[in-house]
Amino acid sequence: MYNVRLMNKIAKVGTDNFDPTKYTVGEEINNPSAILVRSADLHEFVFPDSVKAVARAGAGVNNIPLDKCADNGIVVFNTPGANANGVKEIVLCALFLASRDIVGGFEWSKTLKGDEDAAKKVEKGKSQFAGCEILGKTLGIIGLGAIGRLVANAADALGMNVVGYDPYLSDAAKALLAPNVKIVASYDDIYNCADYITLHIPATAETKGMLNASAFSKMKDGVKILNFSRADLVNSTDILVSLENGKIAKYIVDFPTTEIIDKNKNIITIPHLGASTAESEDNCAIMAVKQIIDYFENGNLVNAVTYPRLVLERKGSKRICVLFKNTDADKISAVIGNCIQSANAVKGVYGYAVYDVDGDVNINAIKAVNGVTGVNVID
Ligand code: MLT
Repeated sequence: MYNVRLMNKIAKVGTDNFDPTKYTVGEEINNPSAILVRSADLHEFVFPDSVKAVARAGAGVNNIPLDKCADNGIVVFNTPGANANGVKEIVLCALFLASRDIVGGFEWSKTLKGDEDAAKKVEKGKSQFAGCEILGKTLGIIGLGAIGRLVANAADALGMNVVGYDPYLSDAAKALLAPNVKIVASYDDIYNCADYITLHIPATAETKGMLNASAFSKMKDGVKILNFSRADLVNSTDILVSLENGKIAKYIVDFPTTEIIDKNKNIITIPHLGASTAESEDNCAIMAVKQIIDYFENGNLVNAVTYPRLVLERKGSKRICVLFKNTDADKISAVIGNCIQSANAVKGVYGYAVYDVDGDVNINAIKAVNGVTGVNVID
């Protein structure tokens, strides 16, 4: 029996995939084999030894201590792409919010409540909320993963000039972009031509604060910034200065923080609603749950954040799954000896190997191999 602890509300359509004869699922589980999480911060969480997997129903994993988990043989999964359409749609909404003063106009209209001349005053006062159209404007997209790509293609279809930059863009991902989307060679190539810039990259040590005074100084005057990735990507002090002096015309951000809430009339804060749609929540939950099940029941790793991808159809009566760090799979294979089939893969310093066997295997001997971070046996 596997125990699964829910750290947040996870869509039932996802958790229903757990076979109740094999899985106990709930919020009050003490010794979980797996943890399912959305936004709960796990950095201070004390992981019981029982935990073998953490699945985030979402793309960002900055609420999970990735290295700590990986070093302790805990596989962290995320669900890239599962909420991409939801986020794409809110980014399109943000493009329009950045272009037309809908928020200002909405607030102002409310001040006319009960005014008998409201209709007349609306016609007289509306010019203060006039905006611009997105047609023919240039949208710069930083990050062309699942979300960035959908945004690129949708903006292209709406008649924008789209330029994108992604240091990790694969040929396969590039092939999914609309032909008009122009791939540029650097962040600067986005900064110097874009009327709107939208961020679709993870928050990491490298990307933290990447939109700062230096980046803003390279941008066009009156640029509009959309941030539906993470607060940390943008330096709050610097963006406030740039909004104040007019360099930046609008900042639409899905991550309100104390530093920026209501600090400038041209900031629009949205309470992290990017993926808050019924469809996205369902898709993420289903993907997260299926990945846990495939790991526990077949030893397959799909969308593991730190460990490599490995999918192998099972043969034989037993599968030995070995997680390792900074070591060679050959050392593990030598301990296992004869097996029906095996496979291994490495991502950075972390590796994963599976061995299908029929006989007995000395698990303690595998655990004793230097660099092994975890061993799971699936019968
Ligand atoms: C994500 O990381 O997938 C999005 O920010 C949405 C979310 O956090 O739920």
